[in-house]
Amino acid sequence: MKIVSTIEEVRNQVKAWRKEGCTIGFVPTMGYLHEGHMSLIDAAGENDKVVVSIFVNPMQFGPNEDLASYPRDLDHDAKLCEEHGVDLIFHPTPEEMYGDSFYAYVDMNTLTQELCGLSRPVHFRGVCTVVAKLFNIVTPDKAYFGQKDAQQLAIIKRMVKDLNMPLTIVGCPIIREEDGLAKSSRNTYLSPEERKAALVLSRSIFLGREMAEKGERDCEKIIAAMTAEIEKEPLAKIDYVKIVDLETMQQVKKIEGGILAAIAVYIGKTRLIDNFMYETEA
Ligand code: PAF
Repeated sequence: MKIVSTIEEVRNQVKAWRKEGCTIGFVPTMGYLHEGHMSLIDAAGENDKVVVSIFVNPMQFGPNEDLASYPRDLDHDAKLCEEHGVDLIFHPTPEEMYGDSFYAYVDMNTLTQELCGLSRPVHFRGVCTVVAKLFNIVTPDKAYFGQKDAQQLAIIKRMVKDLNMPLTIVGCPIIREEDGLAKSSRNTYLSPEERKAALVLSRSIFLGREMAEKGERDCEKIIAAMTAEIEKEPLAKIDYVKIVDLETMQQVKKIEGGILAAIAVYIGKTRLIDNFMYETEA
């Protein structure tokens, strides 16, 4: 496994692999890898070569967010990648990615103005811009994203479609701890007491999903039940509990077709997200 930090090194390696006729799977990450990321890397193993990027992208953090404190551990990440058969890690500096000045960005419009986009106004613009750049650098056949960041996944799928990017986006299921908490690099911020309190997210998600599976189609009722569940936990503060259309990311009143039920909840100072998707039969 190689670890490189320049765009040129990635391009040279990819060019050599292409000459040998290899297919390339790509997993973009911000590092501090956990089982959630590893499941994406394992899925990418269906390609001949696997590239992982590790880059804490400043452009997707707002001014009061956790860019400086975002956890980083390259040695640990490299060890995990090696164990899971990764061929190349791209670990650029912000200067390598953005130079001294940078003007371009990818804005996905109304798709980014709901859910996390409301409380994180610059977030998806930063995500789409860096992901578009990474796709241009790595030129993968397939790229792998977790369904935990469901809005990110939907927006990236749409970006690829709208901009005719020549690759396939593969969505991979949420990986949970044994007790239900969705895996996240931000779980490391939680104190033992907060870690217990954080279980309220998955409880609320499982409750909402069960209601939908049992035939409830009224979104207001599902949202009310999920909200009430979260409010039982004194350490939890709701950012949002919403049900949106899976394609347009706009709120819906009834479950018809594909929906995303998504929540963002502060546990102490840590903002956690979770979701479920549900599709009615046509
Ligand atoms: O999901 C993430 O870790 C990031 O948003 C991504 C896709 C690597 C872009 O920085």
